[in-house]
Amino acid sequence: MAQIIAEVSRTFNEFLLLPNRTRTDCSPATVELRAPLVRHRVGERSAIELGSPFTSAIMQAVSTPDLAIALARNGGLSFLHHNQSIQDQAAAVRQVKNFKAGFVTSDTNVRPDDSLSHLVAVMQRTGHSTAAVTHDGSATGRLLGLVTSRDFHPQRHDLDGPVSGRMTAIADMPHTGADTTLSEANAQLWEQRLDCLPVLDVEGRLQYLVFRSDYADNKRFPNQAVDSAKRLRVGAGVNTHDYQERVPALVEAGADALCFDSSDGYSDWQAQALTWVKKHYPEIPVGGGNVVDGEAFTFLAEAGADFVKVGVGGGSICITRDQKGIGRGQASAVLDVAAARDAFRERTGEYVPICSDGGLVHDYHVALALAMGADFVMMGRYFARFDQAAGAKLPTRDGFVKEYWGEGSNRARNWQRYGQGGQGLIFEEGVDGYVPYAGDLNEGLALTIAKLKTTMVSCGSATLAEFQSTARLTLVSDQSFQESHANVTLRDAPATIA
Ligand code: IMP
Repeated sequence: MAQIIAEVSRTFNEFLLLPNRTRTDCSPATVELRAPLVRHRVGERSAIELGSPFTSAIMQAVSTPDLAIALARNGGLSFLHHNQSIQDQAAAVRQVKNFKAGFVTSDTNVRPDDSLSHLVAVMQRTGHSTAAVTHDGSATGRLLGLVTSRDFHPQRHDLDGPVSGRMTAIADMPHTGADTTLSEANAQLWEQRLDCLPVLDVEGRLQYLVFRSDYADNKRFPNQAVDSAKRLRVGAGVNTHDYQERVPALVEAGADALCFDSSDGYSDWQAQALTWVKKHYPEIPVGGGNVVDGEAFTFLAEAGADFVKVGVGGGSICITRDQKGIGRGQASAVLDVAAARDAFRERTGEYVPICSDGGLVHDYHVALALAMGADFVMMGRYFARFDQAAGAKLPTRDGFVKEYWGEGSNRARNWQRYGQGGQGLIFEEGVDGYVPYAGDLNEGLALTIAKLKTTMVSCGSATLAEFQSTARLTLVSDQSFQESHANVTLRDAPATIA
């Protein structure tokens, strides 16, 4: 007869945190959000630590190189999706690893004999007012000069004339070499009162531009997730089908961590794939998942997983529970797996971090997941709302939305994640829809981090480890859930127009 688990499957909405005593030295300014990403011996530090406990979902609609760069600058990590060719995914990894904060690859480029009217069109397209004039009009051609929108005016200059007639030639402007650090470049910008400093290789080819206007921006991210060479960190999703070809290419491209991406990670295929990676590429951390119980966690930890992702059926675009009747409330899943992670630590002396993946609807759900034992969270819907995510931004009657679609939807058809037999999706396990547009990731995530820090302060915790070990949670009844919301008519309630 089937085994019935006695405990009800619970979601985050059913829990609240109780405030603990807050000491005077615990404030949002002193709260530390460092989180271990990968397996380590108890008492030692994880080889990779996140500056903030956020990762973005392994999804086409979410984890682009742009998003990976923005998230890593805020201390988190993206896992670039594997629902693309191996070459494209490796190129995306390289794009993140080659990113140099403050060093901009020029996107507004012209040839010296291009007309000023062509230059105006290029500037309108990119929205930028400084153009590089290179011998071949490319971003990495030999730099001949710079031309800005201040160098000409349509009523004073013949727009049919060549760009070279209005540019400042490279011989007449300061520039620097490819080994310049950002602080050296910034010093030169300020000392020589420049707006823009070109960075050239030994042959005079353009590498980057450094802008004075980015100075404040570059100072904004004290908490970046970087490797020992100060390059931003990036993760990559892999699957149990083509890993023997995909993993080498991603390692070669410089990925910092890999993660097997499956809607059901409790399988022999995943254990075999983990074992293969550990044997052939012992230096690259690799996570496994997804699982929803302690037994499955232990299975993957014993197979070598460096972290384990938790969550089946809770994602905002997910219909796995409707379609297959498989899954578990995310809170119950995290609590169960966290207990198994702690038991594994006691037994082996090894700490295997866990990630709560999917189903985080409100900012405070992040705090609940971490309090329940997750070391970091993974989110899809949350990040899909930002400019840096892949989905198109579309206007609707009620404001802007961004496209967001599941990996198991007909749009993504990520059969490698779903294992329905054969090379294709037989039925959908995800939907294709929209999420409200939320602007720039940097601003949105700063708000979420501010809320998380103040919640931790209320719970008297200055670190995530302390939060995990001292948090007190209570179940909420339907009635007390009602009590949680505002119970007046709101002054600012939007007027309804008949
Ligand atoms: P969200 O943060 O609630 O939007 O959930 C994102 C998570 O849902 C991802 O990290 C995946 O684990 C999962 N997921 C992605 N696509 C699908 C799908 O099509 N069906 C079911 N789950 C999905």
